Amino acid sequence: MDLFEYQARDLFEAYGVPVLAGLTADTPEEARAAAEKIGGTVVVKAQVKTGGRGKAGGVKLARSPQEAYEAAQAILGLDIKGHIVKRVMVAQGASIAQEFYFSVLLDRANRSYLSLTSVEGGMEIEQLAVEKPEALARVEVDPLTGIDEAKALEIARAARFPEELVSKVAPVLERLWWVFKDEDATLVEVNPLVLTEGGEIVALDGKVTLDDNAEFRHGDHAELEDASSVDPLEAKAKAADLNYVKLDGEVGIIGNGAGLVMSTLDVVSYAGEAHGGVKPANFLDIGGGASAEVMAAGLDVILGDSQVKSVFVNVFGGITACDAVATGIVKALEILGDSASKPLVVRLDGNRVEEGRRILAEAAHPLVTLANTMDEGADKAAELASK
Ligand SMILES: Nc1ncnc2c1ncn2[C@@H]1O[C@H](COP(=O)(O)OP(=O)(O)OP(=O)(O)O)[C@@H](O)[C@H]1O
Ligand SMILES: [Mg+2]
Repeated sequence: MDLFEYQARDLFEAYGVPVLAGLTADTPEEARAAAEKIGGTVVVKAQVKTGGRGKAGGVKLARSPQEAYEAAQAILGLDIKGHIVKRVMVAQGASIAQEFYFSVLLDRANRSYLSLTSVEGGMEIEQLAVEKPEALARVEVDPLTGIDEAKALEIARAARFPEELVSKVAPVLERLWWVFKDEDATLVEVNPLVLTEGGEIVALDGKVTLDDNAEFRHGDHAELEDASSVDPLEAKAKAADLNYVKLDGEVGIIGNGAGLVMSTLDVVSYAGEAHGGVKPANFLDIGGGASAEVMAAGLDVILGDSQVKSVFVNVFGGITACDAVATGIVKALEILGDSASKPLVVRLDGNRVEEGRRILAEAAHPLVTLANTMDEGADKAAELASK
């Protein structure tokens, strides 16, 4: 889960990372009130989960509460790379002497963590990495020891901070590591980290990605979720513990195992070309134990998608054998009753496939068509969706 800047700011503050005052506002009136409360010059900043806000007109300086009102008026509703601004943060204005860059992230390729630091701020990091790679210090961070005092000093020196700043920057890097580690983040980025005219190091912008796999350890992370942007079907699937991603097509997909579901998406896309270009409507992996309840929950989510015209259930029986899956499908259709109203193509293979097919054949549900192979099933489901 990516956090909004204001949420990252609040986390930073909780860990003692120096930040400036910041208040959120959903209307120009609220922005004016926030500017009054903070006092002096403020910066009104679009809160959207994408980069390049400044260039898109989403970051504006305001010298008075009235200017903050006007800035919020201009920013709220703005479309920044497809993200509509619904909220701004009114941040205390800093007088910046110098801008720097710092991030720590999960380095999957090296199965480790990596810190990226640069004293050349103001440039986008992707651009810096390409055009001036020597200005970006890449220092590996050992997961066991993290960024302790010694490591923080090493990083600051590797980035060639002037010696008088090294001891000022290092403690901030240590604290940013605490955020990264204790919140189970996969990214903590500060761009820019600044030196103010007053000689303070301050995090002026923050980007934090939390690891959803660690959610069970963080009861408080659920509140950080942006309920307004979560797809209702995805929310429903999540509540049922299903691995579901909504896509744009017409053929609902259910399979067991991420690999099988991925290849089912490919096969259905391919088959769809012969049927007016129909496409998969979702990714849904019901995992190993395809019980009737799980199957019913999965079908319920998929059938709730009004774009879905047909459903392709593609299951390879392993530890959960095909007869159990078939029984699951029959029971799921019973549970769903009239709300199951779209044709289902089922392809079973693997452990106890004959028994599974027999169960479905005997149930003879009018919506269910049996397919012998994955290609045949994909073609049939695509054909039904195109009607
Ligand atoms: N509180 C502040 N006071 C003074 N200047 C600020 C403040 N916040 C941001 N700025 C200036 O605006 C620039 C852009 O701000 P910021 O980094 O938050 O947005 P951005 O980089 O455009 O967005 P993103 O990081 O999402 O790409 C900063 O580099 C800094 O110069
Ligand atoms: Mg930035």
